Amino acid sequence: MKADIHSHLLPGIDDGARHVSESESILCQLREEGLTHLAFTPHFYPAHDSIDRLLSRREASARRLAESPGFGAFTPAFGAEVYLTEALFNHEGIARLCYEGTRFILTELEYGVPFGKGVERKLERLINDLSLVPVLAHIERFPYLLNSPELVAYLREMGCLCQMNLDSFGNVFMKRKMLRLAGEGMVDYLGQDLHRTSIDSRKKKKILSEIDRADPQFVARCDAYALETIFH
Ligand SMILES: [Fe+2]
Repeated sequence: MKADIHSHLLPGIDDGARHVSESESILCQLREEGLTHLAFTPHFYPAHDSIDRLLSRREASARRLAESPGFGAFTPAFGAEVYLTEALFNHEGIARLCYEGTRFILTELEYGVPFGKGVERKLERLINDLSLVPVLAHIERFPYLLNSPELVAYLREMGCLCQMNLDSFGNVFMKRKMLRLAGEGMVDYLGQDLHRTSIDSRKKKKILSEIDRADPQFVARCDAYALETIFH
């Protein structure tokens, strides 16, 4: 895995890394594992934050981290993980939350809310009214997506893309369904969604080799698509 489009490793912004040294030790492990491209996507909760505030916190944090020696090893991208609630649409300039220089927006669906017209309408507003491409974060966390390739296909047809978290492939209850979605070409990106710790390297190797056995091209395909669309 060379590219990771989802992380909370900018220090002191959200529930991710608390300080530079915590970020640094994770970046060091990622570098040793061969990661070359890393996106920083702090949470944006529309009911409790403003876009201006998030972006200025993100910039200040990136500046602090940029001074650390490990940071230069990666091609970075900066975005946000945007919680998709009605309150999002009270904000001006939502497109500023996209990965910089793109129309792709990492979108976290609302937890505890079943899929229905409400969710669909909000996605449509991003796609049709704002011309954005929602990248649905860790789709495996939402049983209505994990259990329904048809719904995932429908959302992709609408204009959404899908991201999965690498460590979820290590979950025996999810693995088979995740591999099925990946094998059917429904998953565009991999991320690790790292917060304060990394995934154990041995565990990660095991997960990657299991994915490889099921679909030897999957990880390379995700890497290539991330490089083409997010890191450019
Ligand atoms: Fe996240």
